[in-house]
Amino acid sequence: MARRTEEVAERIRSTSTQAVFGAFESEALIGITGVRREPLCQVNHKATIWGVFVNPSYRGRGIAQTLLSAATAHAAEEWDAIQLMLCVNAENLPAKRLYASYGFQTFGLEPRAMKVGDRFYDEEHMCKQLV
Ligand SMILES: CC(C)(COP(=O)(O)OP(=O)(O)OC[C@H]1O[C@@H](n2cnc3c(N)ncnc32)[C@H](O)[C@@H]1OP(=O)(O)O)[C@@H](O)C(=O)NCCC(=O)NCCS
Repeated sequence: MARRTEEVAERIRSTSTQAVFGAFESEALIGITGVRREPLCQVNHKATIWGVFVNPSYRGRGIAQTLLSAATAHAAEEWDAIQLMLCVNAENLPAKRLYASYGFQTFGLEPRAMKVGDRFYDEEHMCKQLV
């Protein structure tokens, strides 16, 4: 189901526990990445990367890597995060290559994490230690 514009605006709003970074050409948004921190003190050394997307016309130019760098710097400098987490569809080879080249390592596989229509997709859980 499609989200309404107001719902999207709320979802990408930066707060004390979430930051969203955009890549722009002129005023057009061509890439986006979010990062959120865990509020509970037992887990707030971690931050989670989400919503990584680059407009297909702009892929393969390092835009996602730049967005990941911005999200990483924010998590480390503003929140003192020492570990980044993310999940990726196990069949999403470009994304897995991007994350691996950025230093993420897979530590688990969730079988049937997503169901789209009649098809299940496994999800890889990845982490990157910053210190
Ligand atoms: C996955 C995704 C975000 C990658 O975005 P991207 O901007 O193309 O990624 P980058 O350009 O930073 O890196 C991709 C490749 O370009 C290469 N690259 C980086 N800078 C480059 C440059 N200046 N010139 C040429 N290539 C470059 C990278 O080394 C990388 O190569 P590799 O795939 O052989 O390792 C993009 O394909 C996408 O939006 N996919 C759909 C959404 C999605 O799957 N998101 C992930 C959900 S978990």
